Amino acid sequence: KTQQQTQQIPSGCPMHGAAPSGCPVTQMAEAFDAFEGPYQLDPAEALRWSRDQLPIFYSPKLGYWVVSRYEDIKAVFRDGILFSPRNVLEKITPATPEAMEVLKGYGYAMNRTMVNEDEPAHMERRRALMDHFIPANLEKHQEMVRRLTREKMDAFINEGRVDLVDAMLYEVPLNVALHFLGVPEDEIAVLRTFSVAHSVNTWGKPTDDQQVAIAHDVGQFWAYAGKIIEKMKQEPEGTGWMHETIRKNAEMPDVVTDSYVHSMMMAIIVAAHETTSLASANMFKTLLSNREAWDDICADPSLIPNAVEECLRYAGSIVAWRRQTTAPARVGDVDLPEGAKLLIVQASGNQDERHFEDGDKFDIYRDNAIDHLTFGYGSHQCMGKNIGRMEMRIFLEEMTRRLPHLRLAEQAFTYLPNTSFRGPDHVWVEWDPALNPENEHPELAHDQLYFPVGAPSRRDIARKVRVAQVRQEAEGIVGLTLEDAKGRPLPRWSAGAHVELVLDGYDRKYSLCGRADASGYDLAILREDAGRGGSRYIHDHVRDGMELRLRGPSNLFRLDEEAPAHVLIAGGIGITPIIAMADRLKALGKPYAIHYCGRSRATMALLCRLEADHGDHLHVHSKDDGSRADLAAIVAALPEGGQIYCCGPERMITALEDLTADKPEGTFHFEHFSAHDTGLDPEKEHSFEVELKDSGMTLQVAADQTVLDAILAAGIDVASDCCEGLCGSCEVTVLEGDIDHRDMVLTRGERAENRRMMTCCSRAKNGGRIKLA
Ligand code: HEM
Ligand code: FES
Repeated sequence: KTQQQTQQIPSGCPMHGAAPSGCPVTQMAEAFDAFEGPYQLDPAEALRWSRDQLPIFYSPKLGYWVVSRYEDIKAVFRDGILFSPRNVLEKITPATPEAMEVLKGYGYAMNRTMVNEDEPAHMERRRALMDHFIPANLEKHQEMVRRLTREKMDAFINEGRVDLVDAMLYEVPLNVALHFLGVPEDEIAVLRTFSVAHSVNTWGKPTDDQQVAIAHDVGQFWAYAGKIIEKMKQEPEGTGWMHETIRKNAEMPDVVTDSYVHSMMMAIIVAAHETTSLASANMFKTLLSNREAWDDICADPSLIPNAVEECLRYAGSIVAWRRQTTAPARVGDVDLPEGAKLLIVQASGNQDERHFEDGDKFDIYRDNAIDHLTFGYGSHQCMGKNIGRMEMRIFLEEMTRRLPHLRLAEQAFTYLPNTSFRGPDHVWVEWDPALNPENEHPELAHDQLYFPVGAPSRRDIARKVRVAQVRQEAEGIVGLTLEDAKGRPLPRWSAGAHVELVLDGYDRKYSLCGRADASGYDLAILREDAGRGGSRYIHDHVRDGMELRLRGPSNLFRLDEEAPAHVLIAGGIGITPIIAMADRLKALGKPYAIHYCGRSRATMALLCRLEADHGDHLHVHSKDDGSRADLAAIVAALPEGGQIYCCGPERMITALEDLTADKPEGTFHFEHFSAHDTGLDPEKEHSFEVELKDSGMTLQVAADQTVLDAILAAGIDVASDCCEGLCGSCEVTVLEGDIDHRDMVLTRGERAENRRMMTCCSRAKNGGRIKLA
């Protein structure tokens, strides 16, 4: 696209032409205001129209392209070269000449730090300064965070009413940050004024008069940062990350430059505490407004790490971040010119239904909350994320244990208007001190639960459900209806979604096959005597009224609802996600056909419902009746642009892969319902080296270890779900080396390309070295 072509888009709507067109979508884009109105009230909700109708749009008021869908935001974060972070700390509202004069007077020269540095300088610097942030090196700070939190709580525990922000959530993160950085702890009040000034200066829309006042604060902050550096230089043996930075500046001045040190000193004070204070304030507001979640945590504190993650997803403190294109680029369906400025709205992506089931619902049992974008993603992903998590977990653990009867006071919440940093200025809470549990049990003041530093473990996440009905679906297939154990509504789910039953030693995944509007979850489970025991256990032990634990729902087999036609093919028990897809397509009024293959009608689950709900669209191929699906004819008859979805045995999927090999990319979608044995036999496997380009590490993967295990052990968050090569969530980009692909996610063509791999099961071929992004 030429510059001229792409620049026409801003004033109009790609679908409805140039403004003024009367097109409501275009009008929404033109009305978008990042500093007031709906975006300031609730950024995710304010962009719902965009996620649904125009996921990338130009905002004339802001002069930025706004990106609102999860996958698009992630794609932008992923490519730090094409989408440079160089504008991340740029003043979003340009300085007035008067303000510039003031700043000049202070010698203000804020420049590249880490977060706004381009490659290759960024990665070199990040690697040189990463050590202090590794989970093992952060453990020692837990005690300090605990101590500071308790000091603050002791001071207000008998008050009965307090503003949590002023009483604790502001100062503790600031003290922790100063301690971690090794910055002397004086002048906290001054730092608070400075930080607010820096935020408004960078992400806000000050009036011309405010610009001057803020410029003075920012200028003083700059001078102050310079003084701190000088003071710290007097202590060459000092501990803390900024001391380390100053030493590295002396050792490798080309990598850790003087300009970097001064700019970073100013930026990190905000990065390290403002982010965490606001996130913690959001967390308490959210949890106390969702009382059931708060009560569940009080009853079971092991839920805390995931609850924190869900708070970061649902109400994160960084709601939008920036990037700038270094060449013409494409995001989603939109071509952008070189130099285009992007506002990527994580708060919107974090509630995108295309990635998070029932995304606008707050759900502390959500098992992919960790996929949120609040810490960014890719090579610039927040280095301090595990410090933020640690603080939020300790706040929540202490508060739920010592003040479970806490409630939110009546109040109107206020926020500092800006594009990116979000959290209430105050969170007033109340409680009756006479009911403090430690009045009767003084030991509660000193109890504590330990959470290892790092991402939450999926093992701890599971909601309690009750078996409302057990029925015989077909020969060898049992049907279950599950309801929330406390009678609450279960999260909504989309066609193709599955849940994971957490049984005695067996975690098994099953697709949801009930009607989408039903209050419970329906599953159909085939007894597999040769399997690993999960289905046998369910058939033999699960009875009406029993309580079970369940993870999800998650969806890794999504339906492209935009396709003009769909052919759905199920083999045996593979009907479960397929029936949900058929229900959805029927509701949408789209053309579809179902081909359901099985041994005999008696063994085919859900036939009655299929016949009742989808009669005209259903083709049953039962072997005993001599009817076999002619897959070649089905594929040949696929209308142009049509898509095929299949869930069934491996041979069926392989056959369809062959038959669709010439069709356009994205025609064929499949889900396996069984995995090969993924156990690793060290006798037969090789150990090998993996180089991780983005984090600058080289890891040794032992013969009995997966790449995923090795990466997680090094403190890097990689999403994972099934851990058996079925779901695709642990995918990484391969840069060099031959891969022995053992997953069931990649198509044959994708394997041959050798550009992606699933870390939970695939390995380096013959023990060779591989390089991943
Ligand atoms: C970068 C958010 C806490 C240090 C970032 C980025 C975000 C972010 C959005 C940019 C990511 C990207 O461009 O992909 C947060 C949130 C926090 C938090 C929400 C708390 C809840 C902290 C803490 C520290 C810290 C406590 C340090 C003690 C950094 C640094 C970077 C960064 C050094 C730059 C990394 C790079 O560019 O390579 N953070 N942060 N953050 N954060 Fe945080
Ligand atoms: Fe599911 Fe790797 S975790 S494919």
